[in-house]
Amino acid sequence: MRGDDWPLIGRSEELGRILAGLDRRTGGVLLAGAAGVGKTRLAAEGLAAAAARGFATLRVAATPATADLPFGAFASVLPELVAGQDRGQTLRQIAHAIAERGEGRPVALLVDDAHLLDEASAALTHQLATAERAFVLATVRSRLALPDPVLALWKDGLAERVDLEPLGEQAILNMLGNVDRERVTEEVEPFLIRLGFIKRGARGRELTSEGRHYLLSRRRDSAT
Ligand SMILES: Nc1ncnc2c1ncn2[C@@H]1O[C@H](COP(=O)(O)OP(=O)(O)O)[C@@H](O)[C@H]1O
Ligand SMILES: [Mg+2]
Repeated sequence: MRGDDWPLIGRSEELGRILAGLDRRTGGVLLAGAAGVGKTRLAAEGLAAAAARGFATLRVAATPATADLPFGAFASVLPELVAGQDRGQTLRQIAHAIAERGEGRPVALLVDDAHLLDEASAALTHQLATAERAFVLATVRSRLALPDPVLALWKDGLAERVDLEPLGEQAILNMLGNVDRERVTEEVEPFLIRLGFIKRGARGRELTSEGRHYLLSRRRDSAT
């Protein structure tokens, strides 16, 4: 089971702000937070909500490997480019092609790790949001420098910035009341360890919630 199968814990307020953005249909939302805080997960939930509301959805991700290539992050959704266009024309052509993918429906675009966008992809992301071609749901690491067009998204008021803080204890406890300990998967576990819910104790990996104690896995050398 992947970590994404684990039900969404908390984040109802933040998700509500994404939903409100979707209802406005314009601009976007910038989800900012530390590594591992849950930006991609929340953005994916937002994209699923967009699909349920009738948006056509697209997802791209910036990585260190795509950062040096013009439009690297958007490689999977680029149209055949017309030769001899200037930069502005190229941007408009791509933005138009992406909007066309909606076939009449509004488009919601998830841009994961937008702090790593190459310059051209950053300009395209900005173009999509300003020209109301797409609702842009971007994730960024807080405290890292952002490409200017991404920074402009919220500085110019096109996109709302939502800062993600680590999940509160109550959110986790509510959740743990309803789940089977088998569901604490390897992928979600680092997240729960970071939040202090899973500890490596004398008997093995232990999770404590509301006075209840779960032994997730026994230490190999443990006698009992
Ligand atoms: N609110 C949440 N509820 C359940 N699981 C979550 C939540 N937020 C994050 N996770 C899980 O924690 C892990 C790290 O989250 P992720 O979204 O990849 O972090 P980030 O993108 O901020 O680095 C993933 O396995 C993810 O599915
Ligand atoms: Mg992420």
